[in-house]
Amino acid sequence: MKKIIIAIDGPAGAGKSTVAQIVGQRLNYTYIDTGAMYRAIAWKVLQDGLSVNDIEEIITIAQSINIKLNYINGKTKVFVDEYDVTAEIRDPSVSCIVPEIAQVAAVREAMVRLQQSMAAQGGVVMDGRDIGTHVLPNADIKIFLTASIEERAQRRWRELTDKGFVVSLEELTRDIAARDKKDCERDISPLIQASDAILLDTTAISIEQAVIAILKLCEERQDFV
Ligand code: DC
Repeated sequence: MKKIIIAIDGPAGAGKSTVAQIVGQRLNYTYIDTGAMYRAIAWKVLQDGLSVNDIEEIITIAQSINIKLNYINGKTKVFVDEYDVTAEIRDPSVSCIVPEIAQVAAVREAMVRLQQSMAAQGGVVMDGRDIGTHVLPNADIKIFLTASIEERAQRRWRELTDKGFVVSLEELTRDIAARDKKDCERDISPLIQASDAILLDTTAISIEQAVIAILKLCEERQDFV
Protein backbone atom coordinates (compact mmCIF):
# COMPACT_ATOMS: atom_id res chain seq x y z
CA MET A 1 0.00 0.00 0.00
CA LYS A 2 1.31 3.44 -0.86
CA LYS A 3 0.35 7.07 -0.82
CA ILE A 4 -0.46 7.89 -4.41
CA ILE A 5 0.25 10.88 -6.67
CA ILE A 6 -2.65 12.85 -8.13
CA ALA A 7 -2.04 15.27 -11.03
CA ILE A 8 -4.70 17.89 -11.82
CA ASP A 9 -4.31 20.02 -14.94
CA GLY A 10 -6.62 22.38 -16.73
CA PRO A 11 -7.20 25.95 -17.91
CA ALA A 12 -7.32 29.07 -15.74
CA GLY A 13 -10.46 29.38 -13.66
CA ALA A 14 -11.62 25.76 -13.88
CA GLY A 15 -11.41 25.44 -10.08
CA LYS A 16 -8.21 23.37 -10.04
CA SER A 17 -6.61 24.91 -6.97
CA THR A 18 -9.82 24.88 -4.90
CA VAL A 19 -10.57 21.28 -5.83
CA ALA A 20 -6.94 20.11 -5.45
CA GLN A 21 -6.60 21.78 -2.05
CA ILE A 22 -9.78 20.12 -0.70
CA VAL A 23 -8.76 16.72 -2.09
CA GLY A 24 -5.39 17.18 -0.37
CA GLN A 25 -7.09 18.05 2.94
CA ARG A 26 -9.49 15.09 2.82
CA LEU A 27 -6.69 12.62 2.06
CA ASN A 28 -4.17 14.29 4.34
CA TYR A 29 -1.91 14.62 1.31
CA THR A 30 0.39 17.54 0.45
CA TYR A 31 -1.12 20.01 -2.01
CA ILE A 32 1.35 21.65 -4.43
CA ASP A 33 0.18 24.66 -6.42
CA THR A 34 2.71 24.86 -9.28
CA GLY A 35 1.15 28.07 -10.66
CA ALA A 36 2.14 29.72 -7.36
CA MET A 37 5.76 28.72 -8.02
CA TYR A 38 5.81 30.50 -11.41
CA ARG A 39 4.06 33.43 -9.73
CA ALA A 40 6.75 33.54 -7.01
CA ILE A 41 9.45 33.92 -9.69
CA ALA A 42 7.42 36.70 -11.36
CA TRP A 43 7.07 38.41 -7.96
CA LYS A 44 10.84 38.28 -7.43
CA VAL A 45 11.46 39.64 -10.94
CA LEU A 46 9.34 42.69 -10.07
CA GLN A 47 10.94 43.00 -6.62
CA ASP A 48 14.38 43.12 -8.23
CA GLY A 49 13.24 45.83 -10.65
CA LEU A 50 13.68 43.57 -13.68
CA SER A 51 11.50 43.23 -16.77
CA VAL A 52 10.35 40.16 -18.73
CA ASN A 53 13.15 40.90 -21.23
CA ASP A 54 15.90 40.28 -18.66
CA ILE A 55 15.99 36.59 -19.53
CA GLU A 56 19.43 35.77 -18.06
CA GLU A 57 18.53 37.32 -14.70
CA ILE A 58 15.13 35.59 -14.71
CA ILE A 59 16.82 32.23 -15.29
CA THR A 60 19.27 32.92 -12.44
CA ILE A 61 16.30 33.71 -10.16
CA ALA A 62 14.49 30.49 -11.18
CA GLN A 63 17.62 28.42 -10.52
CA SER A 64 18.33 29.92 -7.10
CA ILE A 65 14.94 30.96 -5.66
CA ASN A 66 13.99 29.50 -2.31
CA ILE A 67 10.23 28.79 -2.58
CA LYS A 68 8.35 27.10 0.24
CA LEU A 69 4.72 26.02 0.18
CA ASN A 70 3.55 25.67 3.78
CA TYR A 71 0.14 24.48 4.89
CA ILE A 72 -1.06 26.79 7.67
CA ASN A 73 -4.61 26.81 9.16
CA GLY A 74 -6.14 24.97 6.21
CA LYS A 75 -4.54 27.22 3.57
CA THR A 76 -1.37 26.95 1.50
CA LYS A 77 1.00 29.83 2.19
CA VAL A 78 3.75 30.67 -0.28
CA PHE A 79 7.12 31.90 0.99
CA VAL A 80 10.12 33.25 -0.88
CA ASP A 81 13.00 32.93 1.57
CA GLU A 82 11.17 33.70 4.81
CA TYR A 83 8.85 36.29 3.28
CA ASP A 84 5.14 35.47 2.92
CA VAL A 85 4.16 36.31 -0.69
CA THR A 86 0.78 34.51 -0.67
CA ALA A 87 -1.26 37.66 -1.31
CA GLU A 88 1.28 39.55 -3.42
CA ILE A 89 1.66 36.80 -6.03
CA ARG A 90 -2.04 37.27 -6.90
CA ASP A 91 -1.53 40.96 -7.67
CA PRO A 92 -2.45 41.91 -11.29
CA SER A 93 1.14 43.14 -11.83
CA VAL A 94 2.33 39.56 -11.23
CA SER A 95 -0.52 37.93 -13.21
CA CYS A 96 0.37 40.17 -16.12
CA ILE A 97 4.00 38.99 -16.50
CA VAL A 98 3.81 35.39 -15.28
CA PRO A 99 2.79 33.85 -18.66
CA GLU A 100 5.96 35.31 -20.26
CA ILE A 101 8.12 33.94 -17.47
CA ALA A 102 6.45 30.52 -17.55
CA GLN A 103 7.41 30.08 -21.18
CA VAL A 104 11.17 30.38 -20.66
CA ALA A 105 12.58 26.86 -21.12
CA ALA A 106 15.25 27.12 -18.40
CA VAL A 107 12.69 28.49 -15.93
CA ARG A 108 10.42 25.51 -16.58
CA GLU A 109 13.32 23.06 -16.27
CA ALA A 110 14.22 24.47 -12.84
CA MET A 111 10.58 24.37 -11.65
CA VAL A 112 9.93 20.88 -13.04
CA ARG A 113 13.00 19.54 -11.17
CA LEU A 114 11.74 21.12 -7.95
CA GLN A 115 8.20 19.82 -8.48
CA GLN A 116 9.44 16.29 -9.17
CA SER A 117 11.51 16.30 -5.98
CA MET A 118 8.50 17.59 -4.00
CA ALA A 119 6.39 14.68 -5.29
CA ALA A 120 9.04 11.97 -4.91
CA GLN A 121 7.65 10.59 -1.64
CA GLY A 122 4.05 10.31 -2.92
CA GLY A 123 1.00 11.46 -0.96
CA VAL A 124 0.77 14.52 -3.19
CA VAL A 125 -1.93 16.40 -5.10
CA MET A 126 -0.24 18.68 -7.65
CA ASP A 127 -2.05 21.10 -9.92
CA GLY A 128 -0.89 23.06 -12.96
CA ARG A 129 -0.87 22.91 -16.74
CA ASP A 130 1.74 20.24 -17.54
CA ILE A 131 1.69 17.97 -14.50
CA GLY A 132 0.17 14.87 -16.10
CA THR A 133 1.95 15.37 -19.42
CA HIS A 134 5.41 16.43 -18.31
CA VAL A 135 6.15 16.85 -14.61
CA LEU A 136 4.66 13.60 -13.31
CA PRO A 137 3.92 11.44 -16.36
CA ASN A 138 3.68 8.41 -14.06
CA ALA A 139 1.12 9.98 -11.69
CA ASP A 140 -1.34 7.39 -10.37
CA ILE A 141 -4.40 9.51 -11.14
CA LYS A 142 -4.53 12.25 -13.77
CA ILE A 143 -7.44 14.64 -13.98
CA PHE A 144 -8.05 17.27 -16.65
CA LEU A 145 -10.38 19.73 -14.96
CA THR A 146 -12.18 22.13 -17.22
CA ALA A 147 -15.33 24.28 -17.59
CA SER A 148 -16.75 26.44 -20.35
CA ILE A 149 -15.18 29.89 -20.83
CA GLU A 150 -18.53 31.50 -19.93
CA GLU A 151 -18.76 29.59 -16.66
CA ARG A 152 -15.13 30.31 -15.73
CA ALA A 153 -15.64 34.01 -16.44
CA GLN A 154 -18.86 34.01 -14.36
CA ARG A 155 -17.04 32.42 -11.41
CA ARG A 156 -14.22 34.94 -11.60
CA TRP A 157 -16.76 37.77 -11.89
CA ARG A 158 -18.62 36.55 -8.77
CA GLU A 159 -15.34 36.17 -6.84
CA LEU A 160 -14.17 39.71 -7.70
CA THR A 161 -17.63 41.29 -7.22
CA ASP A 162 -17.88 39.64 -3.78
CA LYS A 163 -14.58 41.32 -2.90
CA GLY A 164 -16.04 44.69 -3.93
CA PHE A 165 -14.28 45.05 -7.32
CA VAL A 166 -16.25 46.51 -10.23
CA VAL A 167 -15.40 44.41 -13.29
CA SER A 168 -17.00 43.71 -16.62
CA LEU A 169 -18.01 40.15 -17.43
CA GLU A 170 -17.18 40.73 -21.11
CA GLU A 171 -13.67 41.85 -20.23
CA LEU A 172 -13.14 38.86 -17.94
CA THR A 173 -14.36 36.51 -20.68
CA ARG A 174 -11.88 38.08 -23.11
CA ASP A 175 -9.04 37.80 -20.53
CA ILE A 176 -9.74 34.14 -19.90
CA ALA A 177 -9.88 33.39 -23.64
CA ALA A 178 -6.53 35.18 -24.09
CA ARG A 179 -4.93 33.22 -21.22
CA ASP A 180 -6.26 29.93 -22.67
CA LYS A 181 -4.73 30.81 -26.02
CA LYS A 182 -1.34 31.62 -24.44
CA ASP A 183 -1.32 28.46 -22.30
CA CYS A 184 -2.40 26.20 -25.18
CA GLU A 185 -0.29 27.64 -27.96
CA ARG A 186 3.09 28.09 -26.27
CA ASP A 187 5.91 25.94 -27.66
CA ILE A 188 7.09 24.43 -24.40
CA SER A 189 4.73 22.26 -22.33
CA PRO A 190 1.49 23.70 -23.69
CA LEU A 191 -1.74 22.96 -21.87
CA ILE A 192 -3.11 19.71 -23.29
CA GLN A 193 -4.98 16.82 -21.76
CA ALA A 194 -2.69 13.83 -21.17
CA SER A 195 -3.86 10.80 -23.16
CA ASP A 196 -4.44 8.89 -19.91
CA ALA A 197 -6.10 11.77 -18.00
CA ILE A 198 -9.75 11.68 -17.00
CA LEU A 199 -11.74 14.68 -18.21
CA LEU A 200 -13.81 16.31 -15.48
CA ASP A 201 -16.01 19.14 -16.75
CA THR A 202 -17.14 21.33 -13.84
CA THR A 203 -19.41 23.63 -15.89
CA ALA A 204 -22.54 22.13 -14.38
CA ILE A 205 -21.22 20.55 -11.18
CA SER A 206 -20.19 22.01 -7.84
CA ILE A 207 -16.72 22.02 -6.28
CA GLU A 208 -17.90 19.37 -3.82
CA GLN A 209 -19.14 17.13 -6.65
CA ALA A 210 -15.77 17.45 -8.41
CA VAL A 211 -13.96 16.59 -5.15
CA ILE A 212 -16.18 13.55 -4.59
CA ALA A 213 -15.55 12.35 -8.16
CA ILE A 214 -11.78 12.49 -7.61
CA LEU A 215 -11.95 10.80 -4.19
CA LYS A 216 -14.03 8.02 -5.76
CA LEU A 217 -11.32 7.45 -8.38
CA CYS A 218 -8.75 7.18 -5.55
CA GLU A 219 -10.89 4.68 -3.63
CA GLU A 220 -11.27 2.52 -6.73
CA ARG A 221 -7.52 1.94 -6.75
CA GLN A 222 -6.50 -1.19 -4.91
CA ASP A 223 -3.16 0.25 -3.78
CA PHE A 224 -4.69 3.44 -2.38
CA VAL A 225 -4.12 4.48 1.25
O1 DC B 1 -2.62 28.63 -12.27
P1 DC B 1 -2.06 30.05 -12.19
O2 DC B 1 -2.92 31.10 -12.84
O3 DC B 1 -1.66 30.45 -10.81
O4 DC B 1 -0.71 29.98 -13.05
C1 DC B 1 0.12 31.09 -13.19
C2 DC B 1 0.85 31.02 -14.54
O5 DC B 1 1.78 29.93 -14.55
C3 DC B 1 -0.04 30.86 -15.77
O6 DC B 1 0.46 31.73 -16.78
C4 DC B 1 0.17 29.43 -16.21
C5 DC B 1 1.55 29.11 -15.70
N1 DC B 1 1.72 27.73 -15.26
C6 DC B 1 2.45 26.90 -16.08
O7 DC B 1 2.89 27.32 -17.14
N2 DC B 1 2.67 25.63 -15.69
C7 DC B 1 2.18 25.16 -14.53
N3 DC B 1 2.44 23.90 -14.17
C8 DC B 1 1.42 25.99 -13.69
C9 DC B 1 1.19 27.29 -14.10
